[in-house]
Amino acid sequence: MLDIKITKTATPKAKPADETKLGFGKIFSDHMFLMDYDLEQGWHDPRVVPYAPFVLDPACVIFHYAQEIFEGMKAYRTADNTIQLFRPDCNAKRMQDSCDRLCIPQIPEEDYIQAVKTLVEVDKDWVPHTDGASLYIRPFIFATDVGMGVHASHNYVFCIICAPSGAYYAEGIDPVRIYVEDDYIRAAPGLTGFTKCGGNYAASIKAGALAAEKGFAQVLWLDGVEKKYVEEVGSMNIMFKIDGKVYTAACTGTVLPGVTRRSCIELLRDWGYEVIEGKLAIEDVMAAGHDGRLDEVFGTGTAAVVSPVKELDWKGDKVFICDGKIGPVTQKLYDTMTGIQWGRLPDTKGWIVPVCKG
Ligand code: COI
Repeated sequence: MLDIKITKTATPKAKPADETKLGFGKIFSDHMFLMDYDLEQGWHDPRVVPYAPFVLDPACVIFHYAQEIFEGMKAYRTADNTIQLFRPDCNAKRMQDSCDRLCIPQIPEEDYIQAVKTLVEVDKDWVPHTDGASLYIRPFIFATDVGMGVHASHNYVFCIICAPSGAYYAEGIDPVRIYVEDDYIRAAPGLTGFTKCGGNYAASIKAGALAAEKGFAQVLWLDGVEKKYVEEVGSMNIMFKIDGKVYTAACTGTVLPGVTRRSCIELLRDWGYEVIEGKLAIEDVMAAGHDGRLDEVFGTGTAAVVSPVKELDWKGDKVFICDGKIGPVTQKLYDTMTGIQWGRLPDTKGWIVPVCKG
């Protein structure tokens, strides 16, 4: 159990006046969690302090070699004012897997969860009251060794910040257009695709920007070897309902093991759907789209929750899905996930972890 020292701000910021206009990750709460690592003491000095900028040496490893990882979670306010988390153990575990791949010292699961809960409780007034809005939580670790040698840093900072946020996409739950990326790749076997490291996202920005210029919300990445099989979308995993069955890429190293992804798979299987985690060729997706077998396509992610896709564009070939509307399975998943998260539906799966009363 961490002995977390709490120092509260003497100058609290004004809370957002209009919670329907929060956007995503634009404003931040009053406090942040910090914990340091060095070789002698390991992880030490856990503390909640007023939100403030870092002072870092320009030669810090993080600026040059990007030894950094992060997580994404949310705190939800229920109708009876309970503040709660969704499967924080899954994020703690995934952060450990990211740490392992990036040679960063791991944080015990219980310490990670305690840190998140402590910060959320201190900043509980920042958890939005408005339907669909939540407190987005961003834990991250970065290397702070000073020097130009390429090696695992001996010093790190673990930080958690919180941003009251609305929907990730400007479209909200409205279906989005996705560009199938045939030039750039996101991941390849042996690389870091399964981790949440900043480098994965940095490498994705160009393709995302080019797609945005053409009016697409995101790109769909194909596998990095053959550019043949669907993998994931910029900020979420992706699922395809074809002929009544649901297909999604398997988590075999190149795809992010999303918490929303695995939760949706569990729900779909509970509801009797066959879910196939494996290779699905983009050619087959497009063919299914053209001959009317592509029932629904949707993304899953913490930030995006469940996000319907209305159009796929692959090398100029287009398929339109569900007449541009939200499909029934997509809608049911969205309603069930958000219902459990905001406490409108019973938590029959043991996914909810209460933090405090708001
Ligand atoms: C999340 O869904 O929490 C993520 O971390 C995706 C992020 C790129 C917005």
